[in-house]
Amino acid sequence: MINIPKGTKDVLPSEVYLWQHVEKTARETAAGFGFREIRTPVFEHTELFLRGVGDTTDIVNKEMYTFLDKGGRSITLRPEGTAGVARAFLEGGLAGGVLPAKMYYLISAFRYERPQAGRLREFHQFGAELYGSASPYADAETIALADTFLKNLGLKAVTLKLNSIGCKHCRTEYHKALKEYFAPHLHEMCEDCRARYEKNPMRMIDCKEERCKVYTAHAPRMLDYLCNDCKAHFETVRELLDEAKIAYTIDPSIVRGLDYYSRTVFEFASAAAGAQGTVLGGGRYDTLLEQMGEKPIPAVGFAVGIERLLMVIAAENAPVPNEERPAVYLLGMDAQSRKKAYLLATQLRTENISCEVDLMERSVKAQFKYADKLGARFTVVIGESECAAGAAEVKDMKNSSSERVEFARLAQYIKERL
Ligand code: HAM
Repeated sequence: MINIPKGTKDVLPSEVYLWQHVEKTARETAAGFGFREIRTPVFEHTELFLRGVGDTTDIVNKEMYTFLDKGGRSITLRPEGTAGVARAFLEGGLAGGVLPAKMYYLISAFRYERPQAGRLREFHQFGAELYGSASPYADAETIALADTFLKNLGLKAVTLKLNSIGCKHCRTEYHKALKEYFAPHLHEMCEDCRARYEKNPMRMIDCKEERCKVYTAHAPRMLDYLCNDCKAHFETVRELLDEAKIAYTIDPSIVRGLDYYSRTVFEFASAAAGAQGTVLGGGRYDTLLEQMGEKPIPAVGFAVGIERLLMVIAAENAPVPNEERPAVYLLGMDAQSRKKAYLLATQLRTENISCEVDLMERSVKAQFKYADKLGARFTVVIGESECAAGAAEVKDMKNSSSERVEFARLAQYIKERL
């Protein structure tokens, strides 16, 4: 047998209702905040991610699924949703439309990472992006959307961590301070950090190597270098979260793994989200469009990993709806009744009543067992005498009652009781 590729997962029919529950909650919560769905291609020109996600990130340097297509173009499977949405926002002319543009997406994304709990090579995200507003109200609204979504899923032990990484002006000062601080230790730090030192020293704060953590733990904090505008912006975001009673902690170590962020950055973490602990990440990215060679338009957004979310839902034992069951199982006791059951099922389905009939030529006893396994609310039993009488024996599994119902009245009878 050919096995599934490493780092990917099937969602089998028995578990898909959990995904549908998360997706439905995502759609409903996004709609409540006025975000509309956007769909972009699974692959884009590689250049988009080089410019968008940034060439100092692990994603771009190590994790992209990149290939030449038959036309010799360099194509990359999207490692995240933000860059594609930014491209679509521009290409679709949304920048000239009514702002802010508020969009959400449910996508698969691809990163060539070492698979472990909560880390896959194909994973799924619910993401949201808000374009056109530099106001701290937009940051607060985006964080509130993330927070409401997690609360709507009934999650309680997911905590919000907040930081500001300033703008390119104050970050210049900060980078200078970081370089001064790291210079004497550089020879003891990992190869990646040495490269980051040159290109984007702030990324060193994020390094997971133990030998680097020794130094990053005491590195200067961006919060101490914010310019007055960035400071005021961050204070208002905090104030608005406080007003909305959204709890958070300030965590100066959050710098995020993508290059496009400025000012507010945030993550929601849970001990149940695998080795990484982060279930949702996002922030403001006022310079992304500029990075892509366009005129700058302020934006803020986040994405949450669905697989990690499902781990948290399971660990917290959060309430999930029951898997959908058929309303009716129609049981034919002999060849003629089987045909009648089949016909009645066809009619009930036109009335939007979900039903099942025997497709395996099972015995009557086995059909009863099967109906039980399906969890159908009603079992409609049809035999020789029922056919003659033009009425079926309807068993309501909810209260173990049984009643004779004319075939012609069956749909009405069931609808009244569902
Ligand atoms: P990110 O932090 O790279 O941000 O990913 C967001 C979430 O996607 C993570 O918190 C995690 O739950 C999930 N995730 C990432 N990589 C994997 C993986 N290999 N396996 C399983 N889950 C994973 C972004 O992607 C940004 N585009 C978020 C954003 C939107 N910022 C602004 N707008």
